Amino acid sequence: MKKQEVFQAYQDYIMPTYSRLPLIFVKGKGMKLVDVDGRQYLDFFPGWGVSALGHCHPKVVSAVREQIGKLIHLPNNYLSLQQARLAKELIYWAFPGKVFFANSGAEANEAAVKLARAYGSKDGRYEIISFKNSFHGRTLAALTMTGQSKYQEGFQPLPAGFRSVPFNDIKALKETVTEKTVAVIIELIQGEGGINVADKDYIVSIRKLCDEKKLLLIIDEVQTGIGRTGKMFAYEHYGIAPDVITLAKALGGGLPIGVMIVKKEMADILTAGKHASTFGGSPLVSKAALAVLKAIQKEKLLANVRKMGGYLKESLLELAGRHKAIKEIRGIGLMLGVELAIEGKPIVEECLNHGLLINCAQGNVLRLLPALNVEKKQIDRAVNILDRALSKSSLA
Ligand SMILES: Cc1ncc(COP(=O)(O)O)c(C=O)c1O
Repeated sequence: MKKQEVFQAYQDYIMPTYSRLPLIFVKGKGMKLVDVDGRQYLDFFPGWGVSALGHCHPKVVSAVREQIGKLIHLPNNYLSLQQARLAKELIYWAFPGKVFFANSGAEANEAAVKLARAYGSKDGRYEIISFKNSFHGRTLAALTMTGQSKYQEGFQPLPAGFRSVPFNDIKALKETVTEKTVAVIIELIQGEGGINVADKDYIVSIRKLCDEKKLLLIIDEVQTGIGRTGKMFAYEHYGIAPDVITLAKALGGGLPIGVMIVKKEMADILTAGKHASTFGGSPLVSKAALAVLKAIQKEKLLANVRKMGGYLKESLLELAGRHKAIKEIRGIGLMLGVELAIEGKPIVEECLNHGLLINCAQGNVLRLLPALNVEKKQIDRAVNILDRALSKSSLA
């Protein structure tokens, strides 16, 4: 297909649910993406956090190659070696409990909603509290928990039983809990919300409140999980234990996966027939996820995230000292946001023109999620391009 035919096919045959850049990528390796004209880009936002080991990590590629010739899919009324191994590995990294396999972040969160409702059904509790500026996915319950009305417009009536309160405000949360409340769902760093980091005291207070009121504390680790912050899960920075976590994105190494992990005491609430997913935890996807977890361990990537995250943050702070357009640098590990006093879109476009791919959240927060194995020289190059783009900004 010629380039023009591809553009035309998108226009004629694919629903316009995304604002797309006119870039056709054909190859990826590590931090690099190559377009149809052979132009190379440095990817500092690989797959919105999915390609966290870089594109086509050799260990993931060989694991998938090996598995695909043996067994691709298996329905969940049979057992697979790969799913069993992956579940055991996830519980080793998280906490004593059990997992449910799905295919995306939204599905993992839907599973958590059903778990919470099943948990509360014996005493008539069903209400779930989420936070302003959160993002939990696009299915109807996940969308309702997403505390941003722009995503909800046009889809009313939304399902009942959900409320959202300001983030980092314990008083607002306490005032909203009623005798009907059964769970709280939170991202420890709001990604789509613009890299807003939860305060440690706040999360400790939420844990305490959940214990007192017998609420499930559900932590959405879809974007923060699997090493992104320098720990396997972001909750480890907070010295608390969640009741439920949800995972997706980076875990599959590029293949679609969603996981809910539930602590032991609540792990048997959803019994046979209560929840299911035809594709969830297939041998192929599980094998890829096992390769991701193994690579994180073997290549000491958690340590690399802490080191390179520190280096990237320092480099960005240095930029902030020179560019009036930068208001604040936020984030943990390799999940960093650069809040601007100007619109982010022209900066993202200028970076793109110089071969750097980044993202902008909330209109003015540049979001950087480089691969966990990023190197110093790639950070230097990205910061250099960002520096040049900011030099052209209206506040330069
Ligand atoms: C924190 C968080 N939760 C849930 C989701 C939804 O994941 P998915 O797009 O895989 O459904 C996202 C996606 O960006 C996310 O960042």
